[in-house]
Amino acid sequence: MQTITIIKPDDFHLHLRDGIALSTVANHTAAQFSRAIIMPNLNPPVVNTEMALAYKKRILQCVDGKYNFEPLMTLYLTDNTSVSTIKTGAESNIIKALKYYPSGATTNSDQGVTDIKMTYMALNAMMEDGLPLLVHGEVTGDDVDVFDREAVFIDQVLIPLVKDFPELKIVFEHITTRAAVDFVMESSDKIAATITPQHILLNRNDLFKGGLQPHHYCLPILKAEDDRQAVSEAATSGNPKFFLGTDSAPHTRTMKETSCGCAGIYSALNALEIYVEAFDSVGKLDKLEAFASHYGADYYDLPRNMEQMTLIRNEQDIPDVFPLGDDEIVPFRAGGTCSWQLKK
Ligand code: NCD
Ligand code: ZN
Repeated sequence: MQTITIIKPDDFHLHLRDGIALSTVANHTAAQFSRAIIMPNLNPPVVNTEMALAYKKRILQCVDGKYNFEPLMTLYLTDNTSVSTIKTGAESNIIKALKYYPSGATTNSDQGVTDIKMTYMALNAMMEDGLPLLVHGEVTGDDVDVFDREAVFIDQVLIPLVKDFPELKIVFEHITTRAAVDFVMESSDKIAATITPQHILLNRNDLFKGGLQPHHYCLPILKAEDDRQAVSEAATSGNPKFFLGTDSAPHTRTMKETSCGCAGIYSALNALEIYVEAFDSVGKLDKLEAFASHYGADYYDLPRNMEQMTLIRNEQDIPDVFPLGDDEIVPFRAGGTCSWQLKK
């Protein structure tokens, strides 16, 4: 196959940041995706509908008029999120989900949840209103090996949570392990997962190939080859529980290439093309459209998009860097190539 035409996809896990970073990256996503779930881990975090509405406006101001792009806003769950915050969010039609960061788990998560039990009133309200909980599924704490944090989270947090709230919609974000794939497959249809391009394509060897590779450092961290295979198989299986979420997370080059570098991979520049290449490489192009354009919308009770887009098999170079103010961003697969290209 030399071309593929699909319904324009959505990105169900995206970090756009704010200010100059937002204006630098927003159109990369808008060129490829109709809608995106916008993660609320700004500083300060987006904790109520008013803040989300203001942030949505700032995003739309940065999007080129030629794109018909809709940011799908989320709130940052804290120990103090009230039932009225949930109710206002649900009634507003602006808020599509809440994001649960265990405190200290990742970028800008220090105001995250310290104990999930603190949020039970809020979760109950979400369950009543049908608002999904988006989960960064890693335990924190130095007693757990960094490669085991997702698997331990399933046992310690997720299984009890699902038992207490069987009707709550939960998206296990950016899954990285066979344990997570198995958990999602064995759970009810309330439980789904997003899958990033890096967790389909890379394993933990890629963190150390020829030297330390800071641009492959993201959270949850890349896992072993068996886990990567499980994640790749899930993404390309045609199971509607698994859908596209890039977790594209821009950080400046300075913040990545330093003695204590930030977690996050910036994939938005070529995300869709890279997913297409990944599906093609395992002979599963026929499963791409549903993963990218149907299952996420269906899960979120959104209409499927109407617009179509075409990708062509044509090798393109991925730039080494692009400017962000007086700094730079190093995109995913910088300096490499991608064998598929969006038709302009
Ligand atoms: C994300 C970021 O930088 O905001 N980083 C990452 O490594 N994925 C946060 C997150 O989703 O964990
Ligand atoms: Zn993320």
